[in-house]
Amino acid sequence: MSESIVAVCPTSEVSENSAKRFEVGAHAFAVYNLGGAYFVTDDECTHGAASLADGVLDGDVIECTMHFGAFDIRTGEVVSPPCSIPLRTYKVIVKDDQVCVDLEKKAGE
Ligand code: FES
Repeated sequence: MSESIVAVCPTSEVSENSAKRFEVGAHAFAVYNLGGAYFVTDDECTHGAASLADGVLDGDVIECTMHFGAFDIRTGEVVSPPCSIPLRTYKVIVKDDQVCVDLEKKAGE
């Protein structure tokens, strides 16, 4: 595997239609399981120091519990203010029951 690909968590750690935070080195990721499909973003909200994995996942939208801003987890686009900066997404690769990300690529790349 390319050096930019890191394993984040086992697929079994994130139940369907939920989000969970994982730290790999100094980096905190939020991993989402949408009906068996996995998506990964940075865990920290772009509006402040809040964990998005602690937020409310409604379909493919994660709502931050701090000020109720929201993002599309597939694209990182802002869905609700006060957030204005898009969320970093990562290309996900599921391999050997592990959720892996390519740190150099965004979702859809
Ligand atoms: Fe997330 Fe403000 S810190 S909406």
